[in-house]
Amino acid sequence: MELEAAIRTRRSAHRLIEPAPSDEEFIDLLGWAATAPDHGHLRPWRWILVRGDSRAALGEAFASGATDTEAVRREGRKPLRAPLLATLVLVPQRNHRVPDWEQLAASSAMVNSLMLLLHGRGFGSMWRTGSAVDSADTRSLLGLAPHERLIGWLYIGSPDPTRRTVPRSPVPVDHRVSLFTAPPDPAPPEHPRAEMIRSCP
Ligand SMILES: Cc1cc2nc3c(=O)[nH]c(=O)nc-3n(C[C@H](O)[C@H](O)[C@H](O)COP(=O)(O)O)c2cc1C
Repeated sequence: MELEAAIRTRRSAHRLIEPAPSDEEFIDLLGWAATAPDHGHLRPWRWILVRGDSRAALGEAFASGATDTEAVRREGRKPLRAPLLATLVLVPQRNHRVPDWEQLAASSAMVNSLMLLLHGRGFGSMWRTGSAVDSADTRSLLGLAPHERLIGWLYIGSPDPTRRTVPRSPVPVDHRVSLFTAPPDPAPPEHPRAEMIRSCP
């Protein structure tokens, strides 16, 4: 699929069905997704794939903080919304040039590329977080080290053909883009620092 078409047509899918990419296909796509901008090429992340019956164990960990039966049932079923749950773990690297926030930004860029690559192959995905990212039970089940941070799950599978996807429209962004023009020297006090490029409707 051509890149612009992929961006225009990708939608997060709330429920996904089989098939999901195999471990091999996931790793192949990830190798390309990992070429996303990454200061220092630190790749400060790792993935833990959860499939099949192991999703139920993850559901139990999700439900461990729930206080009533209905919440336990609801949380426990969450990982069953897709055949593959790819757990994203931020692994901050000590680096004097690259602060943690840049490492999170690089990880997010990688995820976006991965979602587009998955979409290009006909798979659907959705990035989800929730309170489970900070749950001690979930962290312990997945074997996270103390310095590692869970930053969510990419729910992955195939789009359910019975579900309609709402087509995308571009986001109105005119009010978010301005152009800076350097002030003359000396600058008059009223010189605007930046002016909108398009007038907002
Ligand atoms: C870091 C991150 C965490 C998210 N966590 C959730 C979540 O827990 N539950 C949810 O419904 N959407 C969550 N979202 C939003 C969805 O992934 C998705 O972007 C949103 O439903 C909009 O759909 P779209 O991607 O088709 O525009 C999260 C997005 C990001 C970037």
